[in-house]
Amino acid sequence: MNDIIKALHERKSVRVFTEEAIAEEDREAILNASLQAPSAGCQLLYTILDITDQNKKEKLAQLCDHQPFIARAKLVLIFCADCKKWLSFYKEAGLAPRKPGPGDLLLAAEDAVIAAQNAVTAAESLGIGSCYIGDVMEHAEEMKELLSLPAYVYPACMLVFGHPARQQKERKKPERFALSDIVCENAYQEKSSAEIRAMFEGRTGAQSYEAWMEAFWMRKYESEFSNEMNRSMEVYLEDFRKEGRVP
Ligand SMILES: Cc1cc2nc3c(=O)[nH]c(=O)nc-3n(C[C@H](O)[C@H](O)[C@H](O)COP(=O)(O)O)c2cc1C
Repeated sequence: MNDIIKALHERKSVRVFTEEAIAEEDREAILNASLQAPSAGCQLLYTILDITDQNKKEKLAQLCDHQPFIARAKLVLIFCADCKKWLSFYKEAGLAPRKPGPGDLLLAAEDAVIAAQNAVTAAESLGIGSCYIGDVMEHAEEMKELLSLPAYVYPACMLVFGHPARQQKERKKPERFALSDIVCENAYQEKSSAEIRAMFEGRTGAQSYEAWMEAFWMRKYESEFSNEMNRSMEVYLEDFRKEGRVP
């Protein structure tokens, strides 16, 4: 295993940070690494919000499903899929761009998340831990207000960073599924009942597959946060579903 692949295997989410600040040169290295990520048409279809205001961090901790460690992070970055900035560039040239659609949003979200993952990897190489916060996609109205998000700008993901506390370094990384459970050759293949059960063998503790899966389903898929995320997405999508030209 080379050093890069080893680092990818060893990275795990960090949710407890020491008091050590992130050095300015490390912050810049992390941000610059983001910008080096692949980007559709090299358009860098994202804007990164660096949240330094402690009151905003506290508010984000509340809005993002009450996760207090967000407010304790030493660096908080929100990667916004930005379908607005090129519209401004086009309009600056006297052009009349069409309104962006859901496809534009998806492309920009891909750009944003790929840039974010570069930040994660760069931070890891500097001994700085990180954690994604998916809940930034919730509470669209409050999030728009808190971050002054205009139409066509969507907070695709948030990352919190800090030096890992010792217990975090020692924590076991959650196990992944086997490669054969994830990779299909040439075309999508539905899993058989036997294959599904084999995937979860040894993963449900003392519970039956059914009991474990029902609890997981309630905790993740039928949860308040995932319903709120979908509701919020509809709020953001409203602008993207309108047809016509940008005024
Ligand atoms: C899109 C996304 C959203 C996530 N949101 C949260 C979150 O809100 N809170 C949290 O503690 N972890 C969050 N995580 C971290 C995952 O829980 C973590 O990556 C997963 O359990 C695997 O563990 P590992 O990162 O240590 O390998 C998120 C990860 C991703 C990729």
